[in-house]
Amino acid sequence: MSDPTTLNHIARVLTSVSPQMPADAALRRYFYQHTYLSPHLRRSVSRGVFVYFRWKRWLNAEASSQTQAEHALFLHERFQQDSKSVKPEALAARAVPDWLKLELDLPTDYLRQLQREPALWLRARPGKAHKLAAALGHCQFTERAPDALHYTGEKDLFRTAQFHEGEFEIQDLASQLVGVAAAPSAGQTWWDACAGEGGKTLHLADLMQNKGLIWVTDRSEKRLQTFKKRSTRAKLYNHRSALWDGTDRLPTKAKFDGILVDAPCSGVGTWQRNPHARWTTTIDDVRELAVTQLNLLNHVAGSLKPGGRLIYAVCTLTRTETAGVAEAFSAAHPELTPAPIAALGSAMPSTMLWPHELNANGMYIAMWQRT
Ligand SMILES: C[S@@+](CC[C@H](N)C(=O)[O-])C[C@H]1O[C@@H](n2cnc3c(N)ncnc32)[C@H](O)[C@@H]1O
Repeated sequence: MSDPTTLNHIARVLTSVSPQMPADAALRRYFYQHTYLSPHLRRSVSRGVFVYFRWKRWLNAEASSQTQAEHALFLHERFQQDSKSVKPEALAARAVPDWLKLELDLPTDYLRQLQREPALWLRARPGKAHKLAAALGHCQFTERAPDALHYTGEKDLFRTAQFHEGEFEIQDLASQLVGVAAAPSAGQTWWDACAGEGGKTLHLADLMQNKGLIWVTDRSEKRLQTFKKRSTRAKLYNHRSALWDGTDRLPTKAKFDGILVDAPCSGVGTWQRNPHARWTTTIDDVRELAVTQLNLLNHVAGSLKPGGRLIYAVCTLTRTETAGVAEAFSAAHPELTPAPIAALGSAMPSTMLWPHELNANGMYIAMWQRT
């Protein structure tokens, strides 16, 4: 159980959370304003805020924020000890918003996973996972991705020498599997069309052994700037970046061996890590983002070389995004053939990665090849 001081900090953060101020941003701001809080207390407050949003629909909204936070932590502890303490019907009714049922069948294992704290995954540089695991300790391997490590220790990883030397990135396992699925080769030319801060770009660049070229585009200049800092730390230089707003005014006339569209999405696959979003995301967001995703795919499709592959990835699980977009895109592009995602050991051209199967975010990946 948390002490009154921690509960008081949690309650104060909760009062500043709103649809415009997501929980993680509210926490960052609170810690910026309260620099005297110890790392241990910060961890407890962050944990308490996220636990509150995981258990929000079990709480009495009339009670004080402290009382609600305390009850959420109680439910969390009880669930940790016995995940069957909550009935499947209660999970289906309370762990997610009602509209999700229109978009997704809700396996009980998935709902249980949503109520757990998320795992922390690292991506070691290719072939360096064993050395990194020995240096950091508290790392577990997975057969799913050769460079992925599940970190269970308490260190602040951003302060480790290994991080500053660019020996690993913090990257969720589901995101790593997008890079694995893309399987670019050294010397090829790729386009990471929605690169953001470049989490997946860095993985592609590593898999290409720092050879060939990756065009790195996003509509956010700020995110591209962060990518440049990250690539310098990782000593990866096989890229060039440009702003692109997703319209048919393409950033280059070049043709590519591979294009990754890691598209903006509703983020339902991240709801274990980001529980506040369960209560701010709407079905209208899902529908709007599906249109954006289809537009992005339509605009990049002509930039593939013959034989080139297009990968569509979204960290969401809704039908309207994922399969809905993939089907509409396939129907409009007979020049592209759905291609098996062989690097993930799949004979199918699309796959849904579930949080409860991976112990990571949810992700949908689809692939086509220009014939
Ligand atoms: C899922 S995030 C990308 C994450 C990134 N690939 C990574 O692995 O770290 C989606 C990105 O798409 C960008 N975006 C959103 N709408 C866009 C648009 N219309 N055109 C281009 N980029 C867009 C956002 O700025 C965001 O960085």
